[in-house]
Amino acid sequence: MAQKKPKQAKAKAKAATKKSARKVMKLKSAKKANGNGLPKASAKPYGQDGKALTGVRILDFTHVQSGPTCTQLLAWFGADVIKVERPGVGDITRGQLRDVPNADSLYFTMLNSNKRSITIDSKHPQGMRVLEALVKTCDVLVENFAPGALDRMGLTWERVHKLNPRMIVASVKGFGPGPYEDCKVYENVAQCAGGAASTTGFREGPPLVTGAQIGDSGTGLHLALGIVSALYQRNRTGRGQKVLCAMQDGVLNLCRVKLRDQQRLAHGPLTEYSQYSEGVPFGKAVPRAGNDSGGGQPAWLLKCKGWESDPDAYIYFITQAPVWGAICDLIGEPTWKTDPDYTTPKARLPRLKKIFARIEDWTMTKTKFEVMDICNAVDIPVGPILSMKEIAEEPSLRKTGTVVEVDHPTRGKYLSVGNPIKMSDSISEVKGSPLLGEHTDEVLKDVLGFKASEIAEIKNSGALSAPKKEEKAA
Ligand code: COA
Repeated sequence: MAQKKPKQAKAKAKAATKKSARKVMKLKSAKKANGNGLPKASAKPYGQDGKALTGVRILDFTHVQSGPTCTQLLAWFGADVIKVERPGVGDITRGQLRDVPNADSLYFTMLNSNKRSITIDSKHPQGMRVLEALVKTCDVLVENFAPGALDRMGLTWERVHKLNPRMIVASVKGFGPGPYEDCKVYENVAQCAGGAASTTGFREGPPLVTGAQIGDSGTGLHLALGIVSALYQRNRTGRGQKVLCAMQDGVLNLCRVKLRDQQRLAHGPLTEYSQYSEGVPFGKAVPRAGNDSGGGQPAWLLKCKGWESDPDAYIYFITQAPVWGAICDLIGEPTWKTDPDYTTPKARLPRLKKIFARIEDWTMTKTKFEVMDICNAVDIPVGPILSMKEIAEEPSLRKTGTVVEVDHPTRGKYLSVGNPIKMSDSISEVKGSPLLGEHTDEVLKDVLGFKASEIAEIKNSGALSAPKKEEKAA
C-alpha cells in the first residue's frame, strides 16, 4: 500500500502529476496522429490477412437454434468455435426433422457449420476437468440452456470468472429478469411474448406467427453483436462480462415500429392502416395490419398473372407519393394525377381500397417479374413474392454466397444460407458441420495440451462417451 505523503511532498507530487499528465496528453495526441495506436495497415491483399475474429476461441455450449445461429456467425467471422455436446446424444437437432436416415439433419447442419465438436459429460468430474480447461483457454462461453442449468453444472459466473477473468459469458434466455425468467422458451413463445404475433395477421383473424425465426435466429444475431462489443471493450478493460439476450427483448426490438404505433394511437387513428380507409374504428391496442406497410406509405399485396394456380404469384406494391404520377400512367389512369380526389396522399387515404383494386387489374396482366422490371424502371418500389424454390434456384444468390452448396460426409451435398454479412477483408467460406465428437481428440491434445496419459485417463473414466447400455439379462 502507498504511504501517506507529507504536505510539501504532496504538492511536489501534484505538480509532477500535472506535468506527466501533459506528457501523456502529448503522447496520446501523437499516437492519434499516427493512427490512434493501431498497427500499421496490412500489406497483404484484402481477404488474405486472416478473418475478423481470427484468434478468438469460443466455448460453444449452445443447442437448438438461437445459440447455434450466434456461434455459427462467429465461426464465419473466423473464430475457433468448439461446440460441447452431450456424449451419445449431442445437440437434439441432430436427430430432429431428419430427411436422410442416420445422417445429421438439415436443422443441425444448417446451424453448425465451421465449428468443431467435442463430447463431454459436464456432470462427470473428469468432464468438468476438461470443461474447466476449456474455460481457461477460451475467450467467450456462449450458452442457451434453460435458466439455471449452467449454474447447476457448477459453471456459475463467479466460478468462470475466477478461472478466467477475461472470459465473456454470453447467454440467450427466453425472458429477462422478471415474472417469467425461469420459463423455457421456444421460437413461437418469443414471437407471442415479444409483440410480433399480436400485430401480425389480418384484423378479422387470430394472431399469427411468422415464418422468419425472429425469436431464435433474431436473438442469436443480437447476442453476436453483444459478444463482439464485449470483446472490443475487453481490449480496453482486460476483463470479461456477462452478455444476456432475452428472446422476448430481441423480438420486441424487431417490433419497435409497433410500439411506435401504440403510442400514436393516443393521438388519433393510424391513417396508414387500411382499417382507417375502411372506416373501422381502432381499439386500445395496435391492431393486426394484414399486408399494410409499417412505414407510412400505403402498400398492399396484389395478384399477378398466374395467381389462380401459383400460390406465390403476387407482388408487394408500394404507392410512394413521389411516384404517384408514374403509377397513374402505368395503370392507365392519367387523370388521377390531377383529380382532387386522388392527387394528394391525404385525398387518397379514404380511397386506398379502390386504388389498389385498380392497380391489381393491371398487375394481374403481368407476371410478378414483369411488374418488377416495369416498376423499377420508373422507381416504383415493388417486391415479388419469392417462393423458397425460387430463392434456392436464384443464380445471383448463389453468386454472392448467400445460398451455398455444402458437402457433408454422411448426407452428401445440401443447400444452406451463407453469411448474410459481407466483409471485404474477412471473407466467409461455409464449411460442413462437425460429426458428433469429431474433434474430441484434436481439442484435448492440440487446444488443451493434455498428455496422452491424461487423455487416456479422461477417456477411460467415461466422461466423454455415451453411457454403456445396460447388458441384457441372459
Ligand atoms: N452433459 C451433461 N448434461 C448436459 C450437457 C452435457 N454436455 N448438456 C446439457 N446438459 C443438461 C443440462 O445440464 C440440463 O440438465 P439439468 O436440467 O439437470 O440441469 C439438461 O441437459 C437440459 O438442458 P435444457 O436447456 O433444460 O434443455 P431442454 O431440452 O429441456 O430445453 C430449451 C430446451 C431450448 C427450451 C431451453 O434450453 C431454453 O429455454 N433455453 C433458453 C431459451 C432458448 O434458447 N430457446 C430457444 C431454443 S432454439
